[in-house]
Amino acid sequence: VRLGIVVVAAGSGTRLGAAEPKAFVELGGATLLEHALTAIARLDEEARVVVVAPSIRVDAATAIAGRVLAPGYGTVVAGGAERQDSVAAGIAALAAADTAGALDVVLIHDAARALTPSTVFARVAERVRASGAGVVPALPMIDTVAETDGADTVERVADRSRLAVLQTPQGFPFAAYRAAIAGASTGHTDDTSVFAAAGHDVVTVTGDEASLKITTPWDLRRAELILAERGG
Ligand code: C5P
Repeated sequence: VRLGIVVVAAGSGTRLGAAEPKAFVELGGATLLEHALTAIARLDEEARVVVVAPSIRVDAATAIAGRVLAPGYGTVVAGGAERQDSVAAGIAALAAADTAGALDVVLIHDAARALTPSTVFARVAERVRASGAGVVPALPMIDTVAETDGADTVERVADRSRLAVLQTPQGFPFAAYRAAIAGASTGHTDDTSVFAAAGHDVVTVTGDEASLKITTPWDLRRAELILAERGG
């Protein structure tokens, strides 16, 4: 197996207003985590998968992974306080599982982007192998965005034509990413910024509207619509 995938699912999901951690909220009869893993299970390429779950949901995540992934291809570990800590836990578990040292590419994916199509995973992995760079799926910016002073004063309105909205899965050469996260400062909310901070190039590929990060109750409604249009 050459492809490793870390699915981070250890967030609390407070903004969704649900009692469950976000990845365990249901969408059309299955949890967000189950949807995310289903897209991974449909990939043509075999992948070794690590799910990073809240510590109180490791058993539930193990049951879901066991249902969706081929036997022996999935591991579940507990996450950390920040997303970056959860990613680091996932990378460590992936390295431990890769006894043959065969992994060349790692993809890091938010379980909250539950409806990301399999084609996006394949597109990112292919581009990592072709370029050796970090790869992030992106869409053009629709809104106008400004930098503020952190309060109510606008300091700079950005040139929208140069902005992109970043999604996941973000892909990297495995060994280079491991080294980058081991040496990273704290506070990264995104994996490409960890990789870029270590001095590597990052390029974009085309993202997908279905990869929206399900964060608010309204996002969940949008995701229900996307699922219904797909036919369930
Ligand atoms: O909170 P945010 O929207 O940035 O979360 C993005 C993804 O990272 C979600 O899938 C969430 O479950 C995951 N996450 C995590 N560990 C944390 C925080 C977030 O795995 N401590």
